[in-house]
Amino acid sequence: MYIDLTHYSYLTLLSKRIDLREDCKNLLCLNDKEKTWQHVQQVAKAAQDLAIAYSVDSKSAYICGLLHDISAVIKPEDMKALMKHLQQDLDPAEDTYPFLLHQKISALIAKDYFHINDPMILSAIACHTTLHKQPSPLDMILFLADKIAWDQTGQPPYLKELTAALSHSLEDACLTYINYLFKEGNLLYPHHLLIEAHQYLKGIQS
Ligand SMILES: [Fe+2]
Ligand SMILES: [Fe+2]
Repeated sequence: MYIDLTHYSYLTLLSKRIDLREDCKNLLCLNDKEKTWQHVQQVAKAAQDLAIAYSVDSKSAYICGLLHDISAVIKPEDMKALMKHLQQDLDPAEDTYPFLLHQKISALIAKDYFHINDPMILSAIACHTTLHKQPSPLDMILFLADKIAWDQTGQPPYLKELTAALSHSLEDACLTYINYLFKEGNLLYPHHLLIEAHQYLKGIQS
């Protein structure tokens, strides 16, 4: 699978590369995604803090945070077309809500535009909305950092419970958040990866 950003004529791309952070900022801000740039900086910081607390590589966590929503520069209607072009099967949830593809497409951009080759980083970016069964500590850190530093106004309603669960384990915190999603009916359409993550996390708790 490969993504070529020059294919999207509406994108402004700088030919000069500086460093990962500046390149990420430029790609987002030159393409009217300043709000996403603010969000990803907060997620990167939250991921870095969680990584330090859980003895996970904090540099990897920071990179995950910076790049996890980089596909915001791609129009949602192009996301489905790209997956079709790459002959990727869609989950019914992605078919109904193509925005759910943004996690996979962010991982593709991280690999092909930012030249990130670490499979642990690419995995965490590719599942930051849904998790998956048997998530790695880095997968869980990015998933949680994205929920702690959410992209909406005010405090997340689940924050207190999630923070309390974090004092126990990453798994417990992920389960707390997914339980919240199912309980509150906040899910647009449950992705099979989210269902598998939920089953796995419930299984290891019992
Ligand atoms: Fe996201
Ligand atoms: Fe995000």
